[in-house]
Amino acid sequence: MVVMVSDESKDTARVNLAAGYRLRTGQHLPVVGFGTWALPEGPECSRAVCDAIRAGYRLIDGAAFYRNERSVGKGIKAALSQGVARSELTITSKVWVDNLGYQSTMDSFFKSLNDLELDYLDLYLIHWPASPNKHAAWQELNLATWKAMVELYEEGYVRAIGVSNFLPHHLENLLSYRVAPMVNQLEVHPGYSQRALVDLCHEHGIVVEGWSPFGRGAVLGDATINAIADAHECTAAQVCLAFCRQLKVIPLPKSAASNRMVSNLDFLDITLSPAEMGQLLALDDIRLGYSGEHPDR
Ligand SMILES: NC(=O)c1ccc[n+]([C@@H]2O[C@H](COP(=O)([O-])OP(=O)(O)OC[C@H]3O[C@@H](n4cnc5c(N)ncnc54)[C@H](OP(=O)(O)O)[C@@H]3O)[C@@H](O)[C@H]2O)c1
Repeated sequence: MVVMVSDESKDTARVNLAAGYRLRTGQHLPVVGFGTWALPEGPECSRAVCDAIRAGYRLIDGAAFYRNERSVGKGIKAALSQGVARSELTITSKVWVDNLGYQSTMDSFFKSLNDLELDYLDLYLIHWPASPNKHAAWQELNLATWKAMVELYEEGYVRAIGVSNFLPHHLENLLSYRVAPMVNQLEVHPGYSQRALVDLCHEHGIVVEGWSPFGRGAVLGDATINAIADAHECTAAQVCLAFCRQLKVIPLPKSAASNRMVSNLDFLDITLSPAEMGQLLALDDIRLGYSGEHPDR
């Protein structure tokens, strides 16, 4: 069972944003995170990350594959120098699919840690699983990778570990390992809710993060989403974020624009009715905004 910490006190956005989901380790993840994919390495990326933290984001979602971790690290450092405590932040990275396996995972982790100029990470994920269509010994490869993740966790280099884009058959042999995945980060937005997989993760106490909550912007012009936004006097983006929250999924919106970063935090007061959730879930039928990225294809 996944526990959502009460977010009923709506006094300050910060209190609400800090409340969120409790991992089985007792650690909390905030209700929303900031995505860093497609922020090219350089000062603009650092500025965006610093602005996001100043706006109230406390979870930063990064990855070695995004090739911007040095700039993400500089943005974090700038925010820390402005009074944000390191302990308030959940800094995430991921090992890329080309680096699966015990030693490559270890090497990738320490490269990310070094690029970010941090001495620990809060969350480390396997970005994509080894899969039957690409790797002969895919289960062994995922397990060898997971062993490295568990070692990093047990030695205190990372506070929590998990996976991303793992389907039930990829999860299977990790669930019985002495430390099971704590998080699964999946594509989740109106049009691609992956509801059965999200429910399965929750049944196993795995917290789900949702990548591309706006379908990379592709769902924001949809008529159904905009009609719901009009009814709530909010933006289509806020409807997508409320949709994720009501599925108990932590959305990871990305925006390089400061005004959007701020408005994308302002969705906690929106409660979608069961009928509205039904309309949004029905968009799965047309796979609105689906990236087409499938771990087994
Ligand atoms: N684990 C994985 O395999 C995986 C895969 C993909 C993504 N991710 C993570 O998930 C994060 C988010 O996904 P994403 O970056 O693919 O896409 P996204 O967050 O769904 O969409 C980002 C796009 O929406 C625009 N946008 C943001 N807020 C908006 C608003 N309020 N109104 C209108 N447009 C808005 C952004 O433009 P501006 O920047 O111009 O505002 C950008 O073009 C990534 O950054 C990454 O951290 C993980």
